Amino acid sequence: MTLETTVTVATARKVPAKVEAVARLVASDRLDDSGLDRGVLDASGFEAKAGQSLVIPGGGAVLTILVGVGPSNGLDARSLRLAAAAATKAAQRVRSLAVDHAAATAPFDDPTSATQALTEGAALAAYRFGAHRSAAPHALRKVTLVGNGDKREAAGVARGRAIAAAVCFARDLVNEPGGTLTPAEFAARVSAAAADAGSLKVTVWDKRKIAAQRLGGLLAVNQGSGNEPRFVQVSYRPAGARGHVALVGKGITFDSGGLSLKQPESMMTMKCDMAGAAAVMSTMLALPALRVPVAVTAYAPLTDNMTGDFAQRPGDVFTARNGTTVEVLNTDAEGRLVLADALAVASEARPDVILDLATLTGACMVALGDKVAGVLSNDESLSDEVRAAGTEVGEALWPLPLVEDYRKLLDSEVADLKNIGGRYGGTITAGLFLREFVGEGIPWAHLDIAGPAFTEEVPADGPKGATGFGVRTLIEFLERRAVR
Ligand code: BES
Ligand code: MN
Ligand code: ZN
Repeated sequence: MTLETTVTVATARKVPAKVEAVARLVASDRLDDSGLDRGVLDASGFEAKAGQSLVIPGGGAVLTILVGVGPSNGLDARSLRLAAAAATKAAQRVRSLAVDHAAATAPFDDPTSATQALTEGAALAAYRFGAHRSAAPHALRKVTLVGNGDKREAAGVARGRAIAAAVCFARDLVNEPGGTLTPAEFAARVSAAAADAGSLKVTVWDKRKIAAQRLGGLLAVNQGSGNEPRFVQVSYRPAGARGHVALVGKGITFDSGGLSLKQPESMMTMKCDMAGAAAVMSTMLALPALRVPVAVTAYAPLTDNMTGDFAQRPGDVFTARNGTTVEVLNTDAEGRLVLADALAVASEARPDVILDLATLTGACMVALGDKVAGVLSNDESLSDEVRAAGTEVGEALWPLPLVEDYRKLLDSEVADLKNIGGRYGGTITAGLFLREFVGEGIPWAHLDIAGPAFTEEVPADGPKGATGFGVRTLIEFLERRAVR
């Protein structure tokens, strides 16, 4: 499986002949660039806010699209990404689109980051999940970015393409139904894509190996399933690497809740419960192309959470990889059980930092809504670093505290820990549970992506469903680490 995006993106100095749609980027303080007079602008409501678009039939092409980038002095990667996404969505019924950004990006001093942002916006907005449709869902195939057409612009397109392809790979994994994206299938897709990307080493543990390695949490969750679990590790070791980052992702390919069964309503989107694993593995696939000079290892514990005859029962106890015993009082708090083992394995390599991504708690959506991920960390500067990376790429992350006082809510009568806390603060008690499995002295941040991983409204940069949230934050985080 090759990393590809749904549209091809190229640079040029001129609008190609016969292109079907031409989008012109317009700054809100340069409305004259739109070519429309005041009366028309007022009547249409087009103010050139970032991501706002106005479609005009004809005007030299089949469609002319005006797209806002907001105020010219605030032009940044975010506004360019939004603009390219809006242009792409407006042109989704034609085959070819030219985005004329020359006037808008002329004051921008970095042509590489400008075309990178435009490429990301276009490729992400053009994404569709077509795997199970009988007819091809859309027509747009080619986007040409019209600027100065130089090498720096081409370099930005290459970077943007690598990043967008990784995000789309994550979206494909998350959108794939739980019945077809089994743990074995997830592992096979990642192995094939890693072989294509090159410079990555993949290790897949099957059930026997998982048992031999005493991943008790992963086995406990898998007990109720007819699908075998997998534990996938991918490592990237560039020459002269600066530092070593471990990435861990929750890989529940479907979460029924187990015997603590979910309500049907809450179960409908639970194919998304491997979005953390998808994000960390997809990030790995982009690193060789981006030549990120940091050593990175990603870990994904994979299983579905089902209700078969041998399913774990509330009250059962297992022993995790690091020797901690856990009383499972709610089988729907399963993510922390598989992450426990993965965090322990990751810690054994003594990386500089560990980041984990997980669709872990509904409580995080209650706290922060469905657009913002929670960050819980044992290291404030690491938490700040992750959030700064998120801000740069337009992924919203907000800190929540690991309240020491709440740790006692995890005390069990029969084991070292129980897997649920009290009625309140569910994201925090989940974070405190995970902390028990992070090696002494290792800075760690947990990203609860339950809200933003999957969307039931159409976002600016793609369709409903999987968002690929986290991939761009992780790539940005790793690239920043390289230049620290
Ligand atoms: N996968 C869910 C969390 C989730 C909810 C993700 C909504 C995405 C959207 C997780 O395994 C879960 O069921 N958590 C429980 C924890 C509780 C039993 C302590 C929850 O949030 O209700
Ligand atoms: Mn659950
Ligand atoms: Zn879950």
